[in-house]
Amino acid sequence: MKLVLDPGYNKLATTLARDFETVKTSFKRFSDGELYFRVEDSVEDENVATLLSGYPNQDSAIVKATLLSSTLKDHGAKQVVTIFPYFPYARQDKRFLEGEPISAKYVAKTLYESGTDFLLTIDVHDAHAFNSFGNRFINLKTYSVWAEHLRTHVDQDFFLVSPDEGRATFVENLAKEINCEFISLSKQRNLQTGEVEGIEVKNRKKLERLEETCEAAVLSDDIISTGGTASEAMRKVKEIFKGHLIAAFTHGIFLPGAIANLLRVGAHTILTTDTIDTSFSDVSVAPLIANRLKKM
Ligand code: R5P
Repeated sequence: MKLVLDPGYNKLATTLARDFETVKTSFKRFSDGELYFRVEDSVEDENVATLLSGYPNQDSAIVKATLLSSTLKDHGAKQVVTIFPYFPYARQDKRFLEGEPISAKYVAKTLYESGTDFLLTIDVHDAHAFNSFGNRFINLKTYSVWAEHLRTHVDQDFFLVSPDEGRATFVENLAKEINCEFISLSKQRNLQTGEVEGIEVKNRKKLERLEETCEAAVLSDDIISTGGTASEAMRKVKEIFKGHLIAAFTHGIFLPGAIANLLRVGAHTILTTDTIDTSFSDVSVAPLIANRLKKM
């Protein structure tokens, strides 16, 4: 497997480039802003994976991915794996209101039609939208990298917190892998405005018990965008739990104000993976991607 690296990536691309041969490419923008690239090495009869940054500039990331897939196939690549560690448009994964697109599904369909054989992503918001693509859609879960990081870097006894129902299964599975306790919250969002309207601890008795036995709480979510979900969830947890607060996210979008929101509610530590380059990207998904590519 050879790799094409998106110049939009730093940390993750550098780490993966140690394990794979890379295809020489050059990227630039025409003066009107349109994308230009050239694949400078032969890809004839090669399996090629393209590593693409899905944020920021989601729209152009999708154009870049489709042009790359088509170009690689036109130049004889055997199989093309498009890797979007953060999958753009993944949150619009169903028609919440009549007239809306199922953006996640349509983006995937466009990529397959452009020559992508396999689409690989990490902790996608909800994999249901991609069910129709069967095993051509690979959603790697970050259990092992989070478990390893939290076990080795958190000295205190800790429990996990799921901020909403959508994350509850992930958090439960991660808690099993780490062998720690967890609690779940329930969240209501206004579908018109997107605002978080209410968040509640489902089992307050359990949280009261954890307040006595644990020194730290690790809130785990797939995405931080405005920080509304995470800060509201932590505010709720803090009503009972007075210990150390760690906020851990797979994909760190961090819109303006998000970090301030977390700090205001008392987050002591912020962590993300490197699916999006952030200054908190201390947890690398490179081993997950490398292991999967080596099996293809
Ligand atoms: C939504 O349900 C996701 O799992 C995240 O909780 C959400 O995308 C985070 O967004 P924000 O930081 O804007 O609340």
